[in-house]
Amino acid sequence: MTPQQIALVEASFAKVAPIAATAADLFYARLFETAPDLRPMFPDDLSEQKNKLMAMLGTVVAGLRRLDTLLPAVQALGRRHAAYGVSAEQYAPVGGALLWTLEQGLGAAFTTEVKQAWTAAYTVLSQTMIEADRVSLKAA
Ligand code: HEM
Repeated sequence: MTPQQIALVEASFAKVAPIAATAADLFYARLFETAPDLRPMFPDDLSEQKNKLMAMLGTVVAGLRRLDTLLPAVQALGRRHAAYGVSAEQYAPVGGALLWTLEQGLGAAFTTEVKQAWTAAYTVLSQTMIEADRVSLKAA
């Protein structure tokens, strides 16, 4: 990610943060509409899940400028996801629902540059999570 992209992700996340609860509602509604097969993987009551997701996104966004110190936490998150039964392919619909949610929340502020910046951020994040199992031996 370029420094400019990091700044765009930070600025746009700051706009969504005040409506985090609504954004989380929109995100899961969209995710299960576009990928209904993922619904059984989650608990019936999503309220805890919604808080955790938004908190984790906040942590990640806040850490983009020092990605190297953030990576161990993202790798650990990836290993937990592998244990939840999440496969590499399932990261795509989640990324799609995330971008869609940002578009709803930001409206006209969701410019092409902002979209590209978030796509770059989600790619780094999801690739790190997906590869965490594979590199865990090497990193240990
Ligand atoms: C960048 C992407 C993602 C982030 C930031 C994220 C974040 C989180 C967080 C913070 C938790 C709480 C538990 C924990 O920390 O281990 C969690 C749980 C979970 N996530 Fe994700 N997640 C991501 C991608 C995905 C994807 C692609 C799936 C695929 C279906 C998924 C499915 C789940 C499931 C099933 C749980 C456990 C629910 C439960 O049983 O309580 N996540 N996620």
